Amino acid sequence: MAEQALVHVPVMMEEVLKLLAPRPGGIYLDCTFGHGGHSRALLNLIGEKGRVMAMDRDPWAVAEGQRLAAVEPRFSITRSAFSDLDAVARAGGVYGQVDGALFDLGVCSSQLDEAERGFSFRGDGPLDMRMDPETGTSARHWLAKAPERDISRVIKDFGEERYARRIARAIVAARAEEAIETTAQLAEIVRRAVPAPKRSARQCRPGAASIHPATRTFQAIRIYINRELEEVDVALRKVVDVLAPGGHLAVISFHSLEDRIVKRFMRDQSRPPRAPRGLPLPEPVAPPALKLLGKLQRPGAAEVSVNPRARSALLRGAEKCA
Ligand SMILES: C[S@@+](CC[C@H](N)C(=O)[O-])C[C@H]1O[C@@H](n2cnc3c(N)ncnc32)[C@H](O)[C@@H]1O
Repeated sequence: MAEQALVHVPVMMEEVLKLLAPRPGGIYLDCTFGHGGHSRALLNLIGEKGRVMAMDRDPWAVAEGQRLAAVEPRFSITRSAFSDLDAVARAGGVYGQVDGALFDLGVCSSQLDEAERGFSFRGDGPLDMRMDPETGTSARHWLAKAPERDISRVIKDFGEERYARRIARAIVAARAEEAIETTAQLAEIVRRAVPAPKRSARQCRPGAASIHPATRTFQAIRIYINRELEEVDVALRKVVDVLAPGGHLAVISFHSLEDRIVKRFMRDQSRPPRAPRGLPLPEPVAPPALKLLGKLQRPGAAEVSVNPRARSALLRGAEKCA
C-alpha cells in the first residue's frame, strides 16, 4: 500500500487541511478517495473518536480503501459515484452531521499512468476511460457509433480544442477503415488530424507547458464518458444538506470547466436571495446557505516543482452557515 500511495502525490494538502480545519471527534467525507492521501492526513488530525468516510467509483481505489479500513476502525469506504453522497451519508448515519467534505476532482496519476485503464495516450491500452469500468459506455464503444457532430461537440466543449471538427472528421474516417480499439490508435489519429506544424507537443499559451496534441481530445472524451461535470453539479447541490451547520467544504478542480461550476455554486449559495427587480422579498428571507472561505487558491511554486500534476489545481472553500 505504501508503494501505491507514493504514485499519487496528494495536491495542496496544507491548504486543504487549513480549509477543512479538522477537529478531534469530527466527521469527514472524502468524496474522492483515490490513493487516500487526504483521508490519511485527516485521520491523523481527528483523534480517536473522529471518522473519515470515503467514497470512490474506481474499484481499484476502493480496494485500496478497503485495505485501510481493515486496519483503521475510524475509516470506511463505499464504492459510489459522489453524486450519491447523500445516500452514502444516510447509510452511514451522518446526514446533516458532516464537519467537512472534500472533493479532489478528476483522475489520479495512477489512473493515467496504467495503460490498461485506457485513459492515456502515453502508453498503449484498450480505449476505455471509465473510472468505474462496470458502469456506462467505454470510449471505444462511444467512438464507434457516435455521430461526427457529437464527437466534435464533445471535443470542443470539454476539451476546448480548436481543431475539434477536423479531429472528429478524422475519427469518423478512421473508424470506417478499422475499429478504433486502443489509446495509441486514437492518439495517432488526433495527431495526424491537427495541422502539421502543431503535431509535436504544443503550448496552449505563451509560457505554458507543452502538451501532446491529443491531450485535449483525451480530456474531453474522459469528461464526457464519466459525466464528470454532471457529477460535480449534482454532488454540490446535495452536499450542503449533508454538512452540519458550520461544516466546511473544499473542492479542488483541475480545469476551468469544473472550476466554473464550483465557483458559480459557491457564489450563488453565499449570496442572500435576490428579489425580482421592483418586487419586495417575501418574508421571512432565507439566509445564504454558505459563507465563502477566502478566495480561489492555487498551489505554490514549490509544490508545482515537485508535483507537476498540481500545476493546474484550483482550490475553493466554503462553510455551511449555521
Ligand atoms: C485526484 S484523485 C483523488 C486523490 C486523493 N485525494 C488522494 O489523496 O489520493 C480523484 C479520485 O476521484 C475519483 N472520482 C472522480 N470522479 C468521481 C465521482 N464522480 N464519484 C466518485 N469518485 C470519483 C477517481 O476515481 C479518483 O480516484
